[in-house]
Amino acid sequence: MSKSKMKSWRFHEFGSISNLQMEEIEIPVPGDDEVLIKLEYAGVNPADKFLIMGIYQGASEPPYAVGRDGCGTIIEVGAKSKYSLGDKVITPSAPAGINREGTLAEYITLPDNQIYLLPDWWTPEEGAAGTKVFLTCWQGLHDAAHLQPGETVVITGASGGIGLAAQTLVKAMGGKTIALTRGTDKRDQLLKLGFDHVCDTNDPDIVENVKAFGGADVILDVVGGKFFAKAIEMANPYGRICVVGALGGVKSEVDPVQIIFKRLQIYGLQVSLYEAEESQRALQELLEVLEPSKGKIMIDKVFPFDQVQEAFEHMRHGPMGKVIVGPIGE
Ligand SMILES: NC(=O)c1ccc[n+]([C@@H]2O[C@H](COP(=O)([O-])OP(=O)(O)OC[C@H]3O[C@@H](n4cnc5c(N)ncnc54)[C@H](OP(=O)(O)O)[C@@H]3O)[C@@H](O)[C@H]2O)c1
Repeated sequence: MSKSKMKSWRFHEFGSISNLQMEEIEIPVPGDDEVLIKLEYAGVNPADKFLIMGIYQGASEPPYAVGRDGCGTIIEVGAKSKYSLGDKVITPSAPAGINREGTLAEYITLPDNQIYLLPDWWTPEEGAAGTKVFLTCWQGLHDAAHLQPGETVVITGASGGIGLAAQTLVKAMGGKTIALTRGTDKRDQLLKLGFDHVCDTNDPDIVENVKAFGGADVILDVVGGKFFAKAIEMANPYGRICVVGALGGVKSEVDPVQIIFKRLQIYGLQVSLYEAEESQRALQELLEVLEPSKGKIMIDKVFPFDQVQEAFEHMRHGPMGKVIVGPIGE
């Protein structure tokens, strides 16, 4: 490769998202068990922002590039790597963008156990958009909640990356879905995308509305805050509540008696805690479930690589699917 420098979106101090700046650094050299990937697309996630703000537990001290999701082509292989030049890969494992250089860059080195071949029924854009959100939903719906065919899943923040991945995955697992979205603007689009029912999260009668559709056997919740108490109310006996995020706040007054008498189970998810081998296993299993329906994530908007700040700003306003950047590089 003739060029030695690459562009990378890095931050040097915890603080505001504006600390994330494009800079030029040396292109990394892969170790024996690593590959060098020329990235084509990278996803942006709300957690990248929390990480730069210094409130993401387990993140390393900067400087490094953020970005957990990526898709690209292998252009150099270490002596012990099982991959080949030209393989298109995605990045399912956690350390990228949390404890080592992330995917919002032109190139990245990663070990074999932190990459996975792009399925041939996903485009590179879909690979960069879908990997982490599908893995998170898998951790909730499969590993934690053991979702059974015919069960109903309530999905909050339904229009976001997690929400739309959950819709696709629940359907592939034989379940039914109730979308919870703030207001009514996105209602028709969510119904068109296949949700069985749509309710307004802010409606004072939200619990009764969900119960009218049979209640929730499983809840995948990205909102938390005051909504969490309502999640407990709308859960059916033996319901499982998967806590994914806290976009609506961190404090809630819950009724423990309902948790006891309904025998509820409450799980905290953290996709980044999948060990490398676990995420390989989980991705393989979830792709097997998605493949018959060729399940994929909807992409809301693709921003040019030099507009990463704009991509984060767009995500803040509530997208309809995933926000990604690319194509990266020349
Ligand atoms: N635990 C984990 O391992 C894990 C993994 C991935 C993501 N997450 C977290 O899960 C959350 C959602 O991620 P995402 O990728 O789906 O984000 P996203 O694409 O930005 O979508 C989030 C959705 O939540 C709703 N929303 C946004 N702000 C809100 C607010 N202040 N109050 C209530 N609802 C709000 C919006 O949906 P409506 O407009 O339809 O209401 C929005 O589309 C984030 O907090 C993220 O950090 C956690």
